[in-house]
Amino acid sequence: MRLPDPALVVLVGASGAGKSTWAAARYRAEEVVSSDALRGVLGSGPHDLDASGDAFAVLETVVAARLRRGLTTVVDTLGLDATRRIAWLDAARAGGLPAVAVLLDTPDAECRRRNGARDRPVPAPVLAGQLRSVRDVRAVLDAEGWDLVVRVGAEDTAATPPAAAAAAEPREDRTSSLGLRSVLQVSRFPWDEDPLAWLTDVARAADEAGFAGLALMDHLIQVPQVGRAWDPIPEPWVALGAIAAAGTGLELGTLCTPVTFRPAGVTAKAAATLSALNGGRAFVGIGAGWFEREHAAYGIPFPPARERLDELERAVVTMKALWAAGTKAYDDHGVALPETTSYPRPAGPIPVVVGGSGERRTLRIAARHGDACNLRTTDETELARLVGVLHAHCEDVGRDRSEVAVTVLDLPVVGADRDDVWARVERLRGRTPAATYAARTHAATVDGHRDRWARLAGLGVSTIFIATPDLGSPDDVLALRGLNA
Ligand code: UTP
Ligand code: MG
Repeated sequence: MRLPDPALVVLVGASGAGKSTWAAARYRAEEVVSSDALRGVLGSGPHDLDASGDAFAVLETVVAARLRRGLTTVVDTLGLDATRRIAWLDAARAGGLPAVAVLLDTPDAECRRRNGARDRPVPAPVLAGQLRSVRDVRAVLDAEGWDLVVRVGAEDTAATPPAAAAAAEPREDRTSSLGLRSVLQVSRFPWDEDPLAWLTDVARAADEAGFAGLALMDHLIQVPQVGRAWDPIPEPWVALGAIAAAGTGLELGTLCTPVTFRPAGVTAKAAATLSALNGGRAFVGIGAGWFEREHAAYGIPFPPARERLDELERAVVTMKALWAAGTKAYDDHGVALPETTSYPRPAGPIPVVVGGSGERRTLRIAARHGDACNLRTTDETELARLVGVLHAHCEDVGRDRSEVAVTVLDLPVVGADRDDVWARVERLRGRTPAATYAARTHAATVDGHRDRWARLAGLGVSTIFIATPDLGSPDDVLALRGLNA
């Protein structure tokens, strides 16, 4: 069972029940606040009962401070004092964190046996008292208002949490066991001396890691959300041409091309060429554009949003017209072309992914003309709502919703284990509070992300564009392999 995270986790159990062992197998040392450990800090050792008062005072301070910051906090005490338990529960509520009680329900005899085997056993009558208290707590825990009460039996106290999903070979259609395809979105390019080698090595790694495709961001100046203005950001269609030469099985395309950058016919030509070069595996992500600065710097007009959205609609229509069979004239949806002569022909269908969450226009354009609509995953409730809006548009324009795929852009921090996750959060968060940054990036191990992705699949998402904020090398891409199992 996977517990909510971040969360307050209060352990309950007699000495020897296995509380500390359970916590150590699942949480970082910094996340576990232990009265025994604090007796060791403030007194002569974990068993220095004279230091109990001081230890609990510090424990309360640490627990309160961590919960206030929204950080996962595991309280490792006997957990038998109802007043303390309720106070921690209230503090979690105040900090907006779910509160979990974990009862280490180890049989009495096993607690006694383990206690007896320790260097400094708890005196037998004391342990007997604890075991009686545990029985009392067991009866009331469910009524205390915990979001979740977990009972851990003797057999699974020490068991490590479920091992990382086996990294199975990617299936041929590159759909994971979650029913999802994932596409690596590359938005930063720390390629040092050799751009070509870096790009092709990243692509080969994505291929090997089971990604269905690779998307390049399309900007003229690196955007502040990703890096600095002087970081390199290549022209994507040129770069994708080079990547095509690496001969991977990846679909290649952009996420997202601003409609303002190139006349739609030129984008159609670039994508058709890429399709021809890459075995028919090309796609176009396209949006209305938003980064005014890059337009000004490159002498590109940046009209008001309404005009850009009009242009977006005409662009999708124009591209589809040019890719369609034949060379006949086209005149519909505000686009008039005297002929649609476009060679090379695309070597396969070129899906158009319309990017953006504008409910009135963008989602409608996606519903009417797009093959997919790309949304953000920051908030699942909001995502579900937007999917509903998209489907309502589909209904409205008479399009079967199955023809418009829901894709999402996911910007997760992915760590090898819990410590690695938090080391990355600490390195990347800048001035953002750690808990806020972790929540925004869904910071987790591969297994944690797969749980979340399973929920996204349940909302109707079929493809995940994933851009990790610390992608630096091909090895970082290979480390994501488990996501595609
Ligand atoms: P813990 O030290 O985890 O128990 O395990 P605890 O509940 O935190 O105890 P207190 O309250 O701090 O005293 C107690 C002993 O039992 C062993 C541990 O290795 C440790 O020596 N243990 C624990 C097992 O043998 N198997 C388990 O599944 C868990
Ligand atoms: Mg302990």
